[in-house]
Amino acid sequence: MAILVTGGAGYIGSHTVIELLEKNEEVIIVDSFINSKPEALNRIRQIANKDFKFYQMDICDKDNLRKVFEENDIECIIHFAGLKAVGESVKLPIEYYKNNIISTLVLIDLMKEFKVKNIIFSSSATVYGVQEIVPIKEDASLSATNPYGRTKLFIEYILKDLYVADKSFNIALLRYFNPIGAHPSGLIGEDPNGIPNNLCPYITQVAIGKLPYLNVFGNDYNTHDGTGVRDYIHVCDLAHGHLCALNKLRENPGLVIYNLGTGVGYSVLDILHAFNKAVGRDLPYKIVDRRPGDIATCYADPTKAYKEMGFKTEKTLDDMARDSWNWQKNNPNGLN
Ligand code: NAD
Ligand code: UFG
Repeated sequence: MAILVTGGAGYIGSHTVIELLEKNEEVIIVDSFINSKPEALNRIRQIANKDFKFYQMDICDKDNLRKVFEENDIECIIHFAGLKAVGESVKLPIEYYKNNIISTLVLIDLMKEFKVKNIIFSSSATVYGVQEIVPIKEDASLSATNPYGRTKLFIEYILKDLYVADKSFNIALLRYFNPIGAHPSGLIGEDPNGIPNNLCPYITQVAIGKLPYLNVFGNDYNTHDGTGVRDYIHVCDLAHGHLCALNKLRENPGLVIYNLGTGVGYSVLDILHAFNKAVGRDLPYKIVDRRPGDIATCYADPTKAYKEMGFKTEKTLDDMARDSWNWQKNNPNGLN
C-alpha cells in the first residue's frame, strides 16, 4: 500500500519523501506547484535513486483528487500541502482559509469514501500562541495570532472532532518548531519566492550577496543575548519524525499529538554565528526594531515524541548551518 504525500514537492515534503523512499515505502506525491518547482521531483529521484507516482493538481479539487484515490491503494496520507507565510496570510486571509482548510476537508471526505484511516498532519508550534512557560509541552494552551496560525488551529480541531466522531481513524498532529537546513547532497532545500521572511534563508541570501545585511529584529528581549530564541530543527531530522509517526500510526494509536523540535533554544545571534562559521566569514547585520507579533522565546519539550515514538534529533546547529549554506551556494537561484 502507498503513502500519499500532499505537498511532496515542497521543502519539508521533499525531504520526507526521500526518507520514505529510502525505507522502501511506495510513495505518491500530489502537488500543484503553487509554492514549489517541478525540478524538486527530479532532485528527489536523483537523491533516492528510486521513483514514485506524481499527480499535479490542486487538492481542493475533489473530482480530480478522487482519481488518485481510485487509482491507488492508500495506507496513509502525509498532509503537507498548505500555504505557510504568516505575513501573506494577514494580507490574503481568505485565500489561506480556502486553501488550507478546504483542502483538508476534501481529503477527509475522500478518506471516508475510500476508507483510508491514517493521516499525519503538518501542524506548527504557532498553535501555542504566546506561552509564558518554556519548554512547551503538547498540553499547553492553544491560540493563534494570525490567519495562517488559525488555519493550523482549526485543522487540528477538525481532525480532533473527526476522531471523536469515528474512533477508527489514526491521526498524528505534528507540531513543527523551526525547520532549517537542507539535504546534505545540496540538491534540495528551502526555496522561498522573493525576499525571505524567515531567518535562515535570509542569512544565506546575505551570504551569497543577494541581500546586503541581516536585520536582527530586536536585541532587548529577555534572552541570553537579547535576541529572539527559537527551536531550530534540521529538516532531515524533521523528515525522520514523519517515519516515526507513520510507524506509530501502524500501531493503531488513535489520535496522537507530538512536538517535533530539539528542545534547545538558540538566539538569532547564535544562528548568525553558526552561519559565519559555515560560510567562513562574518556576515553583516544590523540591529533593528522588534518585528510586530514576535515573541522572545519558543522551544519544545520533545520528551513525548521520544517516549512514545522513539523520535530524537541527531543533527547539530553546525550541521544545520553547513547544509543550508551548501544548498544555497550550489543553487543561488533555488530551483529556478
Ligand atoms: P512548502 O510551501 O515548501 O511546501 C508546501 C507544498 O504544498 C508546496 O509544494 C505547494 O506547492 C503545495 N501546495 C500548497 N497548497 C496546495 C494545494 N492546494 N494543492 C496541492 N499542493 C499544494 O512548505 P513547507 O515548509 O514544506 O511546509 C509544509 C507544511 O508544514 C505546511 O503545511 C506548513 O504550514 C507546515 N509548517 C511549516 C513550517 C516551516 O517553517 N517551514 C513550520 C511549521 C509548519
Ligand atoms: N528574525 C530576524 N531577522 C529576520 C528574520 C527573523 O531577526 O530577517 C528573527 C525573528 O525575530 C525570530 C527568529 O529570527 O526571533 C526566527 O524567525 P523566523 O521568521 O525564521 O521564524 P518564526 O519563529 O517567527 O516562525 C516560524 C514560521 C512560522 C511557524 C513558527 C513555529 O515562520 O510559520 O516558526 O513553527 F509558526
